[in-house]
Amino acid sequence: MKIAVYPGSFDPCTNGHLDVITRCAKVFDQVIVAVLCNSNKSPTFSVEERMSLLKSATRDIPNVKIDCFSGLLTHYMAQKKSNIIIKGLRAVSDFEYEFQMALTNSKLNPDVETFFITTSAQNLYLSSSIVKEVARLGGSISDMVPACIEQEINDKLK
Ligand code: PNS
Repeated sequence: MKIAVYPGSFDPCTNGHLDVITRCAKVFDQVIVAVLCNSNKSPTFSVEERMSLLKSATRDIPNVKIDCFSGLLTHYMAQKKSNIIIKGLRAVSDFEYEFQMALTNSKLNPDVETFFITTSAQNLYLSSSIVKEVARLGGSISDMVPACIEQEINDKLK
């Protein structure tokens, strides 16, 4: 069974994240979306809120599981018996940091492989920060986040 872990802050989940999850769920037997809960960044949404938004957004994809983790990703992956990390790449600017993380994770556990998937063209500009800024300033985020969680995100940010 090929279990892949898609780690991130997901603060909040966007259409870009959902696109990566949906496409990877067709490739791997199980995709665990792992929300980081001890980040240095102070998240806008609590870990419970971020997990709840992800659960709503992925409720129709049976082989997706939403979880959270703290500490090293490689330690979490060993617990989950997974050696596949999924990362979405939007632009060349994402690459340097992601490349550094992939090499670090591989150093920490040489059995772990990072699989990069390119974001779909319509989501190239998207990020959680952009979604939060637009929502806070009263703009429409309807093309940016899954429809079923749009209201919840707006309620938190407006
Ligand atoms: O969505 P983000 O904020 O870019 O996700 C970053 C994340 C969660 C993938 C990264 O910070 C992470 O893996 N943190 C866990 C700590 C860790 O394992 N660090 C060593 C690898 S760089």
